[in-house]
Amino acid sequence: METTTLIPHSRPYLGQKEITAVSEVIESQEVGQGFRVTRFEQSMADYLGLLGGVAVSSGTAALHMALLALGVSAGNEVVMPSYVCAAPWIATAHIGAIPKIVDIDPRTFGIDVEQVKAAITGKTRAIIVPHLFGCSADLAPLQLLNIPIIEDCAQTLGAMYHGQPVGSFGQATICSFYATKLLCTGEGGMVLSNNARMVETLRMLREYDEKQFLYPKSFNYKMTDLQAALGLCQLERFPDSLMRRATIAHRYLSELAHLPVELPSIPQDRTHIFYRFVLKISRPIDESIQRLEGKGIQCRRPVFQPLHRYLGLRGFPHSEHVFSTALSIPIHPSLTDEDVDRIITILQEELT
Ligand SMILES: Cc1ncc(COP(=O)(O)O)c(C=O)c1O
Repeated sequence: METTTLIPHSRPYLGQKEITAVSEVIESQEVGQGFRVTRFEQSMADYLGLLGGVAVSSGTAALHMALLALGVSAGNEVVMPSYVCAAPWIATAHIGAIPKIVDIDPRTFGIDVEQVKAAITGKTRAIIVPHLFGCSADLAPLQLLNIPIIEDCAQTLGAMYHGQPVGSFGQATICSFYATKLLCTGEGGMVLSNNARMVETLRMLREYDEKQFLYPKSFNYKMTDLQAALGLCQLERFPDSLMRRATIAHRYLSELAHLPVELPSIPQDRTHIFYRFVLKISRPIDESIQRLEGKGIQCRRPVFQPLHRYLGLRGFPHSEHVFSTALSIPIHPSLTDEDVDRIITILQEELT
């Protein structure tokens, strides 16, 4: 019987460099938060052209700290899209602030600007703007609202909006370095900002140890040098990894163009780095995922469940539509050309 190996939906892009770097940290015995974390923070800030970064244990912790550093407190409102993972809602709920969920622009999967405007009240203190799948949300009209923006770059780094890097627009920017993200440290995250006072506040929030006084909002959200060593290697290979993603995306865009599916659209004022390659299909999504998996291609819904569904809210037509049509196919730098050939052939068979 012929066995086909499953092509995974996502996989970290790790190699000998990372093995050597982590081994060096272990040999040094300095495995906690040390100089490599500082170096990783500065490297990320330099990459985005920002003043500083504060590395933390996850993207969710980064969102939590960004909200606190912006002064969001219990009873304040935070606007966020429905079509996103649970992290923005969780971070907001931890503070006792009120998540105001709005619909998305189905073209880019980003938060819908008109919906944001309609959701703003006197209690709104922040807007969380996730850039989903590798493409920027529409930042310019959101900036005009004069409400602090947290750019959620967990899924998008290296993309441009109006010629400027995504992640360099908001009052705070957060990243996730989870295993399957663009840069992988296993678990990990960062908050970055151009505001020196905010960076200082973020450092106070991240750790309470060896401080002159007790700061009641502090955590232990630290990152370790083991993770930062990985992060530094990942950042070094990031240009290569983006190039590989672009090559694969180019093939998908041309070789899947004749199928009855909606391909990702890239607005003229943005670039896309294809963290995910998301098609909209007309066939039932769960059944398609099962059939493709049976043929050796692991695909996923790109968002597990939109927030409005968790909360039992009605009236999110774009999030609903996208939830029932969006199919994320494998696109990661470790795919071989043969893997990509196989994915294209099987999608051509299954989605015709
Ligand atoms: C858009 C977005 N924001 C935040 C997060 C949270 O990151 P983490 O898993 O590192 O807590 C994720 C992770 O899935 C994400 O996709």
